[in-house]
Amino acid sequence: MSDRLFIFDTTLRDGEQVPGCQLNTVEKIQVAKALEELGVDVIEAGFPISSPGDFKSVVEISKAVTWPTICALTRAVPKDIDVAAQALQYAKHKRIHTGIGTSEYHIRYKFNSTQEEIIERAIACVKYAKKYVEDVEFYAEDAGRTDNVYLAKVIEAVIQAGATVVNIPDTTGYCLPEEYGSKIRYLMENVKGIQNAIISTHCHNDLGMATANTISGVLNGARQVEVTINGIGERAGNTALEEIAMILRSHKEIGITTNINTQKIHSCSRMVSSLMNMPVQPNKAIVGRNAFAHSSGIHQDGVLKNRESYEIIDPKDVGIDDNAIVLTARSGRAALKHRLHVLGVELSQEKLNEAYENFLKLADKKKDINDDDVLMLVGKDRTAMHRIKLEYLQVTSGVGVQSVASVCLNIAGEKFEAAASGNGPVDAAIKAVKKIISRNMTIQEFLIQAIDKGSDDMGKVHMQVEHEGNSFYGFSANTDIIAASVEAFIDAINKFVK
Ligand code: KIV
Ligand code: ZN
Repeated sequence: MSDRLFIFDTTLRDGEQVPGCQLNTVEKIQVAKALEELGVDVIEAGFPISSPGDFKSVVEISKAVTWPTICALTRAVPKDIDVAAQALQYAKHKRIHTGIGTSEYHIRYKFNSTQEEIIERAIACVKYAKKYVEDVEFYAEDAGRTDNVYLAKVIEAVIQAGATVVNIPDTTGYCLPEEYGSKIRYLMENVKGIQNAIISTHCHNDLGMATANTISGVLNGARQVEVTINGIGERAGNTALEEIAMILRSHKEIGITTNINTQKIHSCSRMVSSLMNMPVQPNKAIVGRNAFAHSSGIHQDGVLKNRESYEIIDPKDVGIDDNAIVLTARSGRAALKHRLHVLGVELSQEKLNEAYENFLKLADKKKDINDDDVLMLVGKDRTAMHRIKLEYLQVTSGVGVQSVASVCLNIAGEKFEAAASGNGPVDAAIKAVKKIISRNMTIQEFLIQAIDKGSDDMGKVHMQVEHEGNSFYGFSANTDIIAASVEAFIDAINKFVK
């Protein structure tokens, strides 16, 4: 069996399904190009029938990317497949990913169907997709909870119908590593024609076992893994690409290689986190801020004497360069351009000039500008399309005094002012905004995170606001965390006040 593992990245499909993480087409192209540089084999670019935006993104990514196969998701429905094929028309290498649920939960409750009927539908969708493309991947949704004997029948039938890749998703993240590995082994040993297809893993992280399950699948014969950058994805997320790449690189005895250029991992992780407004937990393996930070004295001493006493990975192998030039107010445009290039971002001269202006403003407030700051600077202009904008904010607060805030909002060109007192400066400012926007809205989640260290650091604020039973997500970054909080609140409001 081949020792080459194919990396199928679904950051732009399964990852992008996370509420609040949606990207526009330009941002998706930026991520797709970074994935190409990272060396992924397949990019799942979207679910074209789901929205005109997804359709357009698959079209544009197909045009922008050269080497990886571009994949589009469908249900086992002819119309979905027609639309996916149309969206993939410009892809140099294309794949349709179609499938249906195979567990009892799906067959009985979702489809009100029978095992035999599901096999018929599975065969039909693969044959239908084959009319358009040679490379057809079939997914057996909820395969993790599907009986192995029945699953083997489905997989055998779709391979006979022409499937080139068979995906065995643990959709609910339920399997134990041993159980998932045995499932793959069972298919390897019991499906006639299995040598004509590649088995793919697709593991969710609901019980924190996605990476362990994926590795178990690989050890038992899977030769494609479906992963996302930073492990983002619905609920607890998907298997993290960076974890699989670094496990296989660290455990050479497994004898399986990927095409991933691991030195691009760090920049790719930062780009996805920044564009999707999705913070990476500080202790996240490989890409978390603390992943290589040794804080205890004993560890620090050990690492200084010999790095390998406490580190199994050299940070440089994932693209963390301790000697990277730090940008300051004295750095020129060329230094900013170079740093952006290292981070995988190429800007037109006009955009670079704009970013440099913003860089100088930030450098006036903050001594050292790090990679996250740089990515934040070139990130989307979140307020450009906003109907409601923060015109000014003034806050008085301190110990032993009541916090008071005055705000002025610009709503479609007209200015509105209000003042309020509150239980702290953020509370006062939010109450003042609520006086102007008199809608029923509640803050459900409010997260402030410093990008780096130091009192002059930028604070990133994520906010989830509930309005009439729906949740809306707001984000902002600012060296003033009260301003960032109010901007994030206004960002969320703009999503329902049209
Ligand atoms: O988790 C899952 O089952 C999926 C399929 C649609 C591939 O994402
Ligand atoms: Zn999934």
